[in-house]
Amino acid sequence: MDRIDLTLEGGRVYGLLGINGAGKTTLLHTICGLNRRFSGGFRMSEVAINPESDEGDWFRVKCERYLAADSPVLFGELTMRQYAEFVHKLYRRSFEEGELVELARQFHCEAYLDRTIGELSLGNKQKTVLMTGLLLNTPLFILDEPLVGLDVESIEVFYDKIREYCQRGGSVLFSSHLLEIVQRFCQSVFILDRKKIALHVPVDSNTDLHRIFFEVVRHE
Ligand SMILES: Nc1ncnc2c1ncn2[C@@H]1O[C@H](COP(=O)(O)OP(=O)(O)O)[C@@H](O)[C@H]1O
Ligand SMILES: [Mg+2]
Repeated sequence: MDRIDLTLEGGRVYGLLGINGAGKTTLLHTICGLNRRFSGGFRMSEVAINPESDEGDWFRVKCERYLAADSPVLFGELTMRQYAEFVHKLYRRSFEEGELVELARQFHCEAYLDRTIGELSLGNKQKTVLMTGLLLNTPLFILDEPLVGLDVESIEVFYDKIREYCQRGGSVLFSSHLLEIVQRFCQSVFILDRKKIALHVPVDSNTDLHRIFFEVVRHE
């Protein structure tokens, strides 16, 4: 992987765009410390990270970010509630059960809190992962195509929650193929092309993201 050069500021939502195979998932995994086969280095939470950084640094970095993966590995035998609690233990954070119940009410999945994950629909599995991340409140929340499986109303709830997350100072980085969603949610966007960050642009409602995206990814 080429040198990673990313600066993410607190309180902002960043989008990551790129066609299939552009390298989005790999980049997100690298930022989370799940992939150490890269060259160069990048700085996260005052810790300079490169493939040779020692385990302690990686551990600190991992605890400061949460990844909602595109196909998350969940534990089918745990209930939604147990899963959220388990992940809080991994992060050594206290688990406020009342907050989970309130969040589940807002995401319309309160009735499933004590169902095992193996029994849940794709959308409810996705909600389990998202709610756990929202509760953990790590400085960086990373999402790899997070909206797959969510109903329209839950996307709106998620949008409000992400805004609150940023107001508390957190930053959010998410990949998506949905340009409209990226335009609405994000203040800036990275466009990946052929495994490299080809462009980093600010976005607002006047940005012509379609045009910019296709200018980068079309190679005639
Ligand atoms: N920077 C890179 N250097 C070399 N190979 C890469 C790099 N980024 C991704 N790949 C490889 O390209 C393939 C697709 O990458 P992936 O991250 O899954 O793309 P996306 O999520 O954008 O569809 C994978 O096999 C991955 O190992
Ligand atoms: Mg991917």
